[in-house]
Amino acid sequence: MSRTGAACRHRFNFCHALSPTFSFALIPFSLGITILVTVSPCRAQKQPTPSSPPSVAWKGIPKPSPKDYLSPDRCEDCHRPEYLEFDKTVHAHLAIPKQKYVTGCGMCHGPDRVHTEAEEAARGNDAKMAAAAKLIFSFRTANPHDAAAHCLACHTTSEHQQFFSESAHALHGVACNSCHTMHLVEAAVNPEQVGLAFTQAEYYSVPQLPVENQWLHDGMLKQAQPELCYQCHATIQANFALPFHHRVPEGLMKCTDCHTPHGTITAAHQLNQPNWQACVKCHIEVGGPFVYEHAAVKIAGCVGCHNPHGSVNHFMLVRRETRFLCLQCHTGFHGQTRVPHGPATTFENEGDCTRCHIAIHGSNFDPDLVH
Ligand code: HEC
Ligand code: HEC
Ligand code: HEC
Ligand code: HEC
Ligand code: HEC
Ligand code: HEC
Ligand code: HEC
Ligand code: HEC
Ligand code: HEC
Ligand code: HEC
Repeated sequence: MSRTGAACRHRFNFCHALSPTFSFALIPFSLGITILVTVSPCRAQKQPTPSSPPSVAWKGIPKPSPKDYLSPDRCEDCHRPEYLEFDKTVHAHLAIPKQKYVTGCGMCHGPDRVHTEAEEAARGNDAKMAAAAKLIFSFRTANPHDAAAHCLACHTTSEHQQFFSESAHALHGVACNSCHTMHLVEAAVNPEQVGLAFTQAEYYSVPQLPVENQWLHDGMLKQAQPELCYQCHATIQANFALPFHHRVPEGLMKCTDCHTPHGTITAAHQLNQPNWQACVKCHIEVGGPFVYEHAAVKIAGCVGCHNPHGSVNHFMLVRRETRFLCLQCHTGFHGQTRVPHGPATTFENEGDCTRCHIAIHGSNFDPDLVH
């Protein structure tokens, strides 16, 4: 694996060959690329070396018959853009024994010799070339379930992807390559084409890295968040355009601060953590525990009173007048939480209840949450 340190990040590929951690199994491959890089040095950008240990637990794909697989160099002639972009990613530099495990293009596209030899033999004959194209796994034509399975062959044990097949995304036909691109070649990255044009866009612009940097530094995503998610979630984009919102459109927060795009079995709506816990990692002060809890916070959850995507009301409340928010639950009907202050026209019941009940998320002093 090319953990070569900061000095190597933007240099040519052959710096991997100088690295002490370099795996000798990769030498033939790297030599091939060295030649390539001398031809076009400006394309030598690499994924950065992560500062923390890998978040991805994975296993190699065993290679029972080595002769079914070719070196990526054999593809360059015909698939030069894919070949060049692939070489910049961590996938091109896995430190595993080549004889035993699949590396190169075949780790995602499956056995690639048959296709390659058929294409080479078919050159000039359109019908034969089209037939040869069917001899290899294509993510473009595969169904999303099969496409994801090709990634999950390795990305099995990582914390999030292991629940991918249970996610709303998988169940609705969203595959890994709906959000990630392994080659960047196909990604049409033009924010102006994405979703509806909200007025907001004229006021805020999310600082964006150049496309390839964004791709290499940010999980090989087709587009940066939130545009990536807005493509399909136009209603959520509309919520974030409301006056009070978490600053996601401004680029200061991401959808993935609250959600996991990959799926989870512990929380509804693909939240990182169940219910109110997803919020209190940042809003520690409202999380408690308190001596006197307001049951609403932990039972209904924050979304009982707030719309975290955005709202026309201050504090992102779900209702404009706070008292109506309270009176949703404090109805006074038999068996339900009381309205304690008598008829609706009393002093207490006009105006906001939070004039007095200021410790609305819970109190350490007062069971009635007045301080
Ligand atoms: C002689 C030229 C040639 C070589 C060499 C070659 N391919 Fe292809 N490949 C093609 C053509 C032509 C197509 C069909 C047109 C297209 O979709 O780009 C194709 C299609 C593909 C597809 C997509 C199939 C589809 O239907 O969309 C994949 C994946 C692929 N090749 C992978 C590889 C890999 C991996 C290698 C090297 C091990 C390789 N190819 C070597 C010519 C070649
Ligand atoms: C990590 C997995 C992975 C590896 C390794 C990989 N690819 Fe791909 N490839 C994909 C995915 C996913 C797509 C679908 C489009 C995208 O994500 O950009 C794709 C798309 C393609 C396509 C376009 C046709 C299609 O299937 O949509 C070609 C051609 C291709 N790859 C060739 C190659 C070649 C050549 C190599 C090796 C140099 C390679 N791939 C290595 C995952 C991979
Ligand atoms: C042969 C095993 C294997 C296959 C197949 C595979 N990956 Fe990976 N992938 C890895 C390894 C190993 C890493 C690096 C883990 C690390 O060191 O952080 C990785 C890293 C990644 C990363 C993180 C890159 C980064 O920025 O650090 C993404 C995203 C990713 N893979 C997506 C995919 C997708 C999507 C597919 C299917 C198209 C796929 N992988 C197929 C083994 C694989
Ligand atoms: C709905 C969009 C979406 C789908 C579908 C998706 N991902 Fe991701 N993935 C993301 C986003 C967004 C990030 C970056 C997360 C962050 O910045 O916190 C990411 C990060 C990753 C990472 C990097 C590090 C990590 O924390 O694990 C890997 C590896 C990865 N995805 C693999 C996959 C695989 C494999 C699949 C298919 C099984 C997949 N992803 C499906 C959006 C998606
Ligand atoms: C501050 C945390 C937070 C952020 C940031 C956030 N969400 Fe949510 N999201 C939630 C919560 C909490 C729910 C559950 C709402 C409920 O239970 O009614 C939710 C629900 C959803 C749902 C399902 C319910 C629905 O309203 O359709 C989607 C889809 C969704 N979010 C997408 C997104 C997207 C896309 C982004 C980024 C543009 C995003 N979220 C950013 C907290 C957040
Ligand atoms: C290719 C389209 C697509 C992309 C891109 C996409 N989603 Fe989704 N997402 C869907 C579909 C389809 C559903 C299921 C229907 C629904 O709940 O709206 C869904 C559902 C969800 C849900 C709701 C889960 C639930 O159980 O209610 C959340 C949360 C979500 N997506 C977050 C995200 C985030 C965050 C991103 C960006 C990292 C993203 N999505 C990118 C298509 C997409
Ligand atoms: C990643 C950290 C983070 C998470 C997670 C988060 N928030 Fe926030 N929240 C913030 C920040 C930062 C602000 C200040 C916002 C601003 O001014 O843009 C904020 C503001 C708010 C406000 C408005 C406060 C005010 O003074 O106007 C409310 C209400 C709120 N968040 C509720 C929630 C809820 C509910 C959740 C869980 C669904 C949540 N937050 C999750 C960081 C977070
Ligand atoms: C019973 C309704 C209710 C619930 C449940 C609730 N809030 Fe609030 N929250 C309010 C009201 C009302 C305000 C406005 C207070 C005011 O007017 O001074 C508020 C204000 C806030 C503020 C900004 C002011 C402050 O006190 O810091 C944040 C942040 C916040 N809530 C976060 C959360 C989080 C996180 C949760 C879940 C753990 C949550 N709220 C659950 C009603 C609620
Ligand atoms: C989602 C429902 C819900 C909402 C909305 C709600 N509450 Fe509550 N509240 C409760 C429940 C449940 C209890 C616990 C009642 C009990 O123990 O009898 C409670 C308890 C209280 C108590 C303490 C009373 C006691 O007997 O312990 C006060 C004060 C209170 N709420 C005020 C408010 C105010 C003010 C608002 C509006 C900002 C509000 N509540 C919104 C459900 C809610
Ligand atoms: C002028 C200040 C004030 C306002 C406004 C006010 N309250 Fe209270 N509330 C109190 C005080 C003081 C107590 C504790 C003494 C009592 O029971 O009267 C209390 C008690 C309560 C209790 C607990 C009752 C019990 O029997 O334990 C609930 C529930 C409550 N208020 C809900 C509300 C709701 C809902 C609103 C808005 C419609 C509201 N309050 C408006 C001052 C206020």
